[in-house]
Amino acid sequence: SLVGEATKIAEELEYSPEQVRRGVKEFLRLTDDGLQNDGRDMTMIPTYVTSVPNGTEKGVYLAVDLGGTNFRVCSVVLNGDTTFTLTQSKVAIPKALMVSDSHSLFSFLAKQVADFVGIHHSDHFSEDPEHHLHLGFTFSFPVDQRAINKGYLIRWTKGFDIPDAIGKDVCALLQKEIDALGLPVKVAALVNDTVGTLMARSYTSPGKTGTLLGAIFGTGTNGAYVEKLDRITKMTSASANDVGEYDTSTGEMVVNTEWGSFDNALNVLPDSLYDRMLDQNSVNPGIQMFEKRVSGMFLGEILRNAILSMKEDTRLFATSTIAEDSVLNTPWSIDTSLLSYIEADLTEDYSVTKEQLQKDLGISASTISNDEAQAVKILVHAIGKRSARLSAVPIAAIVIATGKLSPPAETPTDGLNLKDLSFMEQGIEILRRAIGGRSPAAPPDDAPPPNIQDEEPIDIGVDGSVVEFYPGFEKYVREALRDVPELGEKGEKRIRMGVAKDGSGVGAALIALVAKMQYSQ
Ligand code: BG6
Ligand code: GLC
Repeated sequence: SLVGEATKIAEELEYSPEQVRRGVKEFLRLTDDGLQNDGRDMTMIPTYVTSVPNGTEKGVYLAVDLGGTNFRVCSVVLNGDTTFTLTQSKVAIPKALMVSDSHSLFSFLAKQVADFVGIHHSDHFSEDPEHHLHLGFTFSFPVDQRAINKGYLIRWTKGFDIPDAIGKDVCALLQKEIDALGLPVKVAALVNDTVGTLMARSYTSPGKTGTLLGAIFGTGTNGAYVEKLDRITKMTSASANDVGEYDTSTGEMVVNTEWGSFDNALNVLPDSLYDRMLDQNSVNPGIQMFEKRVSGMFLGEILRNAILSMKEDTRLFATSTIAEDSVLNTPWSIDTSLLSYIEADLTEDYSVTKEQLQKDLGISASTISNDEAQAVKILVHAIGKRSARLSAVPIAAIVIATGKLSPPAETPTDGLNLKDLSFMEQGIEILRRAIGGRSPAAPPDDAPPPNIQDEEPIDIGVDGSVVEFYPGFEKYVREALRDVPELGEKGEKRIRMGVAKDGSGVGAALIALVAKMQYSQ
């Protein structure tokens, strides 16, 4: 039967507790490897964001944000008393620009900045470079970052393919087009969306332990976290090449993992027929293999492949008419929102699923049987759940690697790992200072030491359309977190996930401020 066939496919897509555990192990191995060596697929990019305190600056900072569903230009007006006002405009990036040449893309971006500044900040047009607006550039692709405002593009992801930009400093590309328009704007900081999310969440998240990780589950997936400088040996060792200047006083730096390319070798990732079909038809076969199983840009395509393959092998939709130019026959055109709607369908007669299949795929709802709708719903559920369970792998690994959990039972300990604690406390302080927040009041000297390792929440800032809109995503992430023995139920419960909505724009503006104070004297 159709339902039986779909169930078989769903079983193939199951990501078992044992696979989660193997995934976490491999993630930890590749994390270490990437911190030690340049040029790894999971790039572990040092971001040059260390610190620079000051929450009382006044001024206007711009941020542009490229790499998610929308291109955005924002400005943050800092009022000098830690409050700020955010203004923003969003446009969808024209698809043609995603596969064009760098001049076309970056001149488009500069034009949007010009329009925005013209509307909102015309009072800032000043010939004097001292009074140029400083801009944080959220550029959510892997770059070889060599300074807070310099990064060479390593590769495109998420369907972008503009070969002449590879190896170029993307800040310089944007600056050139901004200058060509005569705009009084200086590109001051280069920021990955995950880093912006981490900063913004850390600013707004309550509690004294700060934010450990900024993660995106949207069009793409990736995460950035605070790492000890001495673990980033590829930049601190005597033989490290071409390392730009950075502040070492905090002993830490935010690292952008680029976990979208976790396990491109497929040592541990699941690999179904539908994944292989997708990869072969992508602009970057063999790359971003984790992202291709997890993020919004790809879930619709996995579903399309699964439906097409079922259609060939069974009588799925045999009595419906499907136009040749239907979304079902067009690669990369099923939006993740279709999966979200179907996953949310609780009706007994699958009426939501049928309506949605009509709306998105053009299959007349009245010709869809209950069995057909149920079969599609089973596929959707399996694909979404696998994505969520996979997403638990990097989260668990980073929580483990940064020593946030109690030490394993076999390690002799007094119950409190002071070394790790001081590292975390420092990290929080760095982030707080970096974004100009206030430090928590120190506890009185005679207060008992808080048992942070057992009790404090572990805070994670997340953003992106999948984690925000896919029903039950966080629930399935949590189920898989509990499958990791180092975490178990206790560890899972300590993890607090909060959406830092549109956070990376704010984060980028804050880093532009930091950069201005640190580097522009
Ligand atoms: C936005 C952030 O809120 O989320 C972007 O400002 C980020 O920087 C994006 O890339 C990720 O979500 P999506 O779903 O738009 O890819
Ligand atoms: C892709 C990009 C990465 C970004 C992520 C989320 O994985 O390579 O830089 O952070 O998408 O937008």
